[in-house]
Amino acid sequence: MVRIAKSVLVIVGLAWAAMLAITIVDRDAPVPRRVLLRAAPAAKRSLPPAEPMAPLPRRYSCSASRCHGALPATDDDWRSAAAVWNASDPHATAHAVLFSERSQRMVRLLGGPADSADPAMADFLRENCASCHAPGGSASVAAPKPAEFDLSAGVRCEACHGDAELWFVKHRTADWQNLSPEAKAELGFLDTKHPGVRAEMCASCHVGSPGRDVTHDLIAAGHPRLNFEFAAYWRALPRHWDDAAERAESRARLGIAADDPTQLDAAMWRVGQIVSAKAWLRLLHARANGQPWPEFAAYDCAACHHDLRPQRRKQGNPVSPENLGALPLGEWDLAMPRLLAEHAAETDEAGEKLLQELILLERAMQRPLADAQAVQRAAEQALQALEASARDLDRRRMLAALAADEEASSAPASWDSAAQWRLAVEALHGESPLQNDLQRLHNVLNSRGDHAAAVDAVRRQLRTMLEP
Ligand code: HEC
Ligand code: HEC
Ligand code: HEC
Ligand code: HEC
Repeated sequence: MVRIAKSVLVIVGLAWAAMLAITIVDRDAPVPRRVLLRAAPAAKRSLPPAEPMAPLPRRYSCSASRCHGALPATDDDWRSAAAVWNASDPHATAHAVLFSERSQRMVRLLGGPADSADPAMADFLRENCASCHAPGGSASVAAPKPAEFDLSAGVRCEACHGDAELWFVKHRTADWQNLSPEAKAELGFLDTKHPGVRAEMCASCHVGSPGRDVTHDLIAAGHPRLNFEFAAYWRALPRHWDDAAERAESRARLGIAADDPTQLDAAMWRVGQIVSAKAWLRLLHARANGQPWPEFAAYDCAACHHDLRPQRRKQGNPVSPENLGALPLGEWDLAMPRLLAEHAAETDEAGEKLLQELILLERAMQRPLADAQAVQRAAEQALQALEASARDLDRRRMLAALAADEEASSAPASWDSAAQWRLAVEALHGESPLQNDLQRLHNVLNSRGDHAAAVDAVRRQLRTMLEP
């Protein structure tokens, strides 16, 4: 991939500190945007889909009317999956955005061809964008197969359900229903009914994975920063399946009693947090193996760019001698696992271990020109600790962690951690008395105001609600 000149940046120590004083993002530049802080369904695209009923897999047709192409009014939701996807799923047009004004500007800034008619354009998009925007028949979690990328269709059925090569014929037979999820998985059919497997599939594009990476180069050229939160994105995805059946199945897979729907929402949030943190750590591991390193997208954006909030972060003084040259780690994907670990650390060994490993990882990353191998080791340790932690956190305990005093737990000081905190409360609380205060926090975050008071208001309410 073509790199934007970064030679300026390989100046250690003082240069980092000096950069803090410079507002790099100018007003007309694309600002990191579109953090999904809403639970509303994904907005209708302004771009038309390539064709009505865009071509589905070349090798396999999913959208025949006898198969998944029936009209949405049909009783069985599975029959209308393709029609729903085609009409309202944001993934159906993910390829088309690559030809938008914004994308074409990105391509130019990244050193690609200037003209969309240039045959080199397709090559450039296939190399840099298609693994996420137009993966064709290439299954998501397995290594993407560039030969199958297809710029004429977005994120199609197989990208989420698995490469159909081995299961296409079988899944149309009566026997299919009797196969276990494991037997289906062996044929490459992804077990999307399991919330953990499902979240991992989403995260492979929405957080990133080896071979799929929204780097700082892409962001600087105008790509939105990826701010994935599984529970919120899951709510926003148009249903091409039977929602009640999916919830019942998810409860069964996660071992949750049927009588409390809020426990499922809480568990889904937790699954999403753990899966996203793991995906982020694996991506970091891969980034440390490649170029450029260090990868700026792994750091807190406000370390180099002025925070858009009037107040600076509370934690740490960036120009104190011991912090000179230190860059804080990006918080989006680790803030909530860390908060839970901090809360659990008092009573629970796994929580304590996780907290320790996350702190060691932060230290490894904070060193100027962080040592790639040390970061990889720290990421591996943190992954293991994450695996072992937070297995049985129930909703009440997680809420208690979110409601804890600043002294007992890290306050969501940065915009990233406060935004994640808000999404967490929304996914976990289930009851209405918080709605107004949550909405206010949402507004403050969206306008990048000082969120401390708004967080505190929600937290006080939460504490009252949790009192026995
Ligand atoms: C790691 C996967 C990944 C890669 C690689 C990637 N993107 Fe994206 N892109 C996404 C995701 C996910 C979104 C949606 C972000 C969101 O809304 O949360 C997105 C959103 C966008 C948007 C905004 C779309 C809109 O509707 O406003 C544009 C434009 C875009 N990408 C263009 C590109 C281009 C051009 C490339 C290659 C140079 C590229 N992307 C590479 C994952 C990726
Ligand atoms: C963004 C990822 C994604 C894409 C793209 C996608 N699906 Fe799905 N699909 C899911 C998830 C998640 C579920 C819900 C979990 C489940 O039931 O497997 C689901 C459920 C289904 C179901 C219901 C399964 C059941 O047993 O009830 C069918 C059928 C289906 N999808 C078919 C399709 C078809 C056909 C396409 C392409 C037109 C498609 N899907 C595209 C993610 C996706
Ligand atoms: C193969 C990569 C890929 C996978 C897998 C994937 N997505 Fe996406 N998703 C994208 C891209 C690319 C976009 C941006 C499309 C656009 O803007 O046109 C997107 C957009 C979205 C949006 C709209 C975001 C917005 O800001 O409006 C939602 C919601 C979403 N995805 C949820 C999910 C969920 C939930 C899953 C898992 C069930 C999932 N996605 C799996 C690539 C993927
Ligand atoms: C280590 C310092 C550093 C970090 C951390 C960093 N950036 Fe940057 N960023 C820069 C520098 C230097 C430039 C200008 C050179 C370039 O474009 O690569 C830049 C350029 C940009 C631009 C383009 C600005 C323009 O005027 O064209 C955007 C947008 C951007 N960064 C967003 C982000 C986001 C979002 C994050 C966090 C995910 C982030 N940056 C993290 C140093 C950093």
